[in-house]
Amino acid sequence: MPPHGHPTARPDTAGTLRGILAPESRPDPYPLYREILAAEPVWVARDRPVVVFASYEACRAVLRDPRASNDRRHALIHRAPEAPGAGRPAEDATAADPAVPLEIPSFLFTDPPRHTALRRIAAPGFTPRAVRRLTPMIKDLIDDLLDAVAPDRKDGVADLASPLPVTVICRVLGVDTGDPDWYRTRSSLLGRAVDPYLAFLGVPPPDPAGRRRAEDELGAFFRRLAAERRAEPRDDMMSRLLATQAGEDPLTDEEAVTTCRLLLNAGHETTVGLIANGLRTLPRHPETLAALREDPATTAPAVVEELLRHDAPLQIVHRHARQDMEVRGTRIPRGTTMVLLLAGANRDESAFACPHRFDAERAEASRHLSFGLGTHYCLGAPLGRLEAELAFTRFAQRVVDPRPVDGPTRYRPHVVLRGPASLPLRTGGVLGRDTPWDRPPGSPTAGTDTVSGGAAPGPRCGRRSRRSC
Ligand code: HEM
Repeated sequence: MPPHGHPTARPDTAGTLRGILAPESRPDPYPLYREILAAEPVWVARDRPVVVFASYEACRAVLRDPRASNDRRHALIHRAPEAPGAGRPAEDATAADPAVPLEIPSFLFTDPPRHTALRRIAAPGFTPRAVRRLTPMIKDLIDDLLDAVAPDRKDGVADLASPLPVTVICRVLGVDTGDPDWYRTRSSLLGRAVDPYLAFLGVPPPDPAGRRRAEDELGAFFRRLAAERRAEPRDDMMSRLLATQAGEDPLTDEEAVTTCRLLLNAGHETTVGLIANGLRTLPRHPETLAALREDPATTAPAVVEELLRHDAPLQIVHRHARQDMEVRGTRIPRGTTMVLLLAGANRDESAFACPHRFDAERAEASRHLSFGLGTHYCLGAPLGRLEAELAFTRFAQRVVDPRPVDGPTRYRPHVVLRGPASLPLRTGGVLGRDTPWDRPPGSPTAGTDTVSGGAAPGPRCGRRSRRSC
């Protein structure tokens, strides 16, 4: 019996797990997720208490289970013999990844009751109602970005998907947006910290030094901002955080800094992925672009849900057993890390018919797990959805006849944060910003010609229609 009382990985699944981390898998990790789903539960190694789930029901069950913690101090792998930082006390467990800061974790990596108190402070800024008030600002930003597209070199990521979310979240937080690239490059470096290298291989993700630098620079930036807002409060998130008491305990300056940094990172990397995935997919589905122009109010939300399901911007989350537990018949000893392949669960045939097919009319798309579930359900879901709905609507309205450039799509190196690194596009031009957002029925729109001569809609898929995929 292995030391942790669990079966060891079979050689074939060990190769699959390494494959998930491999750069060659970035364009299409889905066959690997399917292999894990077929072999679930997959234990990673004899001396590493890590189990991987990819089925819809198992991922759901873990996300909803209060014994499954998001606090790394409950994870034995952060204290495993081969992990850097081994032998440190449990309180210092985040030191296991040299790139993970020693300072306090954000509320994403905290359990209730502290999680509840901290989340409650940030929540009012991200309710559907609060977010709807941002619509005019986001629409303006999208139009500014489309106005600035160079006629001879169009790239969906550089022109729209990448700059939009960082600018929006900086404005929401009240952070100077003079140089969005400064935040973007640092939070992109930090994004690799959540890639499951420690879980799968027992080593930290690549470039720990780069992440440490990014962490220090962002930390210093937000600490300066906290000092400024403490001296002179404004009507922004940092001032509100500093002025708030979190339950019985006051919020420390360091917690305000960590919360702001979480909102900045979580608030844009994933949304970049969602918009970029959409700008890659939509030109391959002219019928969906036409529907977006015809009826954006109905089509845009449906497109966003199906994109989230079909190609989750955040592919994987971790949980750690704070006590012995069971997941769908599998005994999970205390201290085990559970790796949940959310993107795989979204393509589980037992939950979604013809799951590998993108179908903007899929009735059950919104059952996806791409925003998580339970205690840590994405706080920014309404904002992410709104940005993507407006971006896709405007793309359909203003960009004439968009076509992908031949050749494979280049993806970012990240494993968890998924999205194309660049998306060269051919188009028939970009219409002016006077193009109405709300089109009167019957008026001509961008791409009308293309749509009438374009590809016929593919076979319908999903439970609403009975045609097979
Ligand atoms: C469309 C894009 C987005 C996707 C796919 C996404 C996905 C997720 C997922 C899967 C989680 C749960 C993580 C876990 O359970 O471990 C999460 C949590 C979170 N997200 Fe998002 N997110 C998106 C956009 C945003 C935006 C725009 C914000 C803006 C503030 C945001 C803020 C957060 C926060 C603060 C958490 C932590 C919640 C908690 O721990 O209670 N996200 N997100």
